[in-house]
Amino acid sequence: MESDWKLNSVIYQIYPRTFQDSNNDGIGDLPGIISRLDYIKNLGVTAIWLSPIYRSPQIDFGYDVSDYKDIDPIFGTLADFERLVQECKERKLQILMDYIPNHTSSQHPWFQESRSSKNNLKSDWYIWGDAGRNGEAPNNWLSVFGGSAWEFDEARQQYYLHTFDKSQPDLNWRNPDVQEEMFDVLRFWMDKGVDGFRVDVPYHIFKDPLLRDESPNPDYAEGVHNFFNSLHHVHTAWLPESMEMMRQFAEVLQEYKNKFMVAEAWGEISDLIKLSNTVGWRYFVPFNFSLITLPWRADVHKEFIDMYDSELGGGYLPCYVLGNHDTSRIASRVGQKQARVGALLQLTLRGLPFIYNGEELGMIDGEISREMIKDIFEINSPGLGLGRDPQRTPMQWDDTNNAGFSTHIPWLPVGSSYRFINVKTQEEDPHSMLSLYKLLIHIRNQHGALREGNYVKIPQPQKDIFAFIREKDASRVLVLANFSKKNISISLDFHKARMICNTSLTGLQESVDLNNFIVKADEGYVFVLE
Ligand code: GLC
Ligand code: CA
Repeated sequence: MESDWKLNSVIYQIYPRTFQDSNNDGIGDLPGIISRLDYIKNLGVTAIWLSPIYRSPQIDFGYDVSDYKDIDPIFGTLADFERLVQECKERKLQILMDYIPNHTSSQHPWFQESRSSKNNLKSDWYIWGDAGRNGEAPNNWLSVFGGSAWEFDEARQQYYLHTFDKSQPDLNWRNPDVQEEMFDVLRFWMDKGVDGFRVDVPYHIFKDPLLRDESPNPDYAEGVHNFFNSLHHVHTAWLPESMEMMRQFAEVLQEYKNKFMVAEAWGEISDLIKLSNTVGWRYFVPFNFSLITLPWRADVHKEFIDMYDSELGGGYLPCYVLGNHDTSRIASRVGQKQARVGALLQLTLRGLPFIYNGEELGMIDGEISREMIKDIFEINSPGLGLGRDPQRTPMQWDDTNNAGFSTHIPWLPVGSSYRFINVKTQEEDPHSMLSLYKLLIHIRNQHGALREGNYVKIPQPQKDIFAFIREKDASRVLVLANFSKKNISISLDFHKARMICNTSLTGLQESVDLNNFIVKADEGYVFVLE
């Protein structure tokens, strides 16, 4: 059964704090997730990815781990986790954990020991540097979350490096003991039955050992961009050693059967391709964030996807995503109608789709007043629109108080849209976003061409329309996506096509003549070509 299960996967990302609260403390948890597994299974997805649930002081909501081998009490216990794995297995849902190699929490015992002196057993488990003559930081490196990447530690009288918040010191991956210990974390969770990992910022884990300064980025605009972007990160990101370490993670996974790994990969496309080639393993894909970052235009996406698909080659899989816990929600970025078009693209393109919880409802960014801000990114770099609270507001289950998420005041306010954007309402509405997601996942599961077929590029039928074919043996599926608010008439040389989906979920037709067809405004279509 080493058959290509990843080709058949659709993965659902759960942000545990936000998904379902079971004990009414206002924070989502593992028993809450278990109680919603039938909902998830019903979507037709094959796997879930959990954002971090490890023991953590929650400064960066779990991306600051203080024990990689335990569950944080706010989420539950190891026994709850084991039950979750069991319940997933019973439903044939695979489960991916988040793996956070770049940094730990400053409360991790490793860091506590490391900071205690210059000559303890873990003294070089983190990246320490001496102050300059005037007490200044070792170099000009910056934190993604704002300010210098260095923090002075009084006890040790040295600076430590933190690529993210100062509560997240960077591990020193040049130390083989760190490597071994962290490989062991992977084994620990695979022994517990997880199917794989989403790896957090793997491109940052190695840095220049000479700690050389980075050069300024002339395109940076102060007060507009993240301050982090004022430098070119040639010494702190995408080093070949980081890619090589991803290959070693893959080797650890291959000690087991049928494991899988996906990497967070904010970078140049050439870096993503290099990373795929370095890891060189069928069960690895880097996320591709272009559907999030590129302008929402048919020609732009066509050009990009044509290029990416052919550069990657058939042996590797793309992994397009529309959103996650770090980015503004797709329905807020492009509107509800185009979010439907986005869903249609994501679920019909070649590759491995990841759906962020709530995307299947067209959830929009929640409103966060100043007093409600929780995200450390917004706290460290205020006012630049970098905060991630809006996309982390509670899952909208129904139109009761707190949207069915909790009976207690939730840790982030429920978005005001919950009265009409919620699971219960949408389950009853055959035209809802939720119904569209279910249909799209269903047809993907039904049609080999959509799951496993090649991506065949075709010319744009009209300026605002992106069209492509998926093909497996004799079966062919055509996808049309109108990125504009206009009806557009097209003529394609397919006289007999069966429409199996459109984004408004109205008027499916058995036989369509595409030689003379009106592509409706804001609408996408899937056709089986006969
Ligand atoms: C990744 C995570 C993000 C986190 C950061 C630091 O980008 O997705 O949520 O804050 O890494 O771990
Ligand atoms: Ca709870």
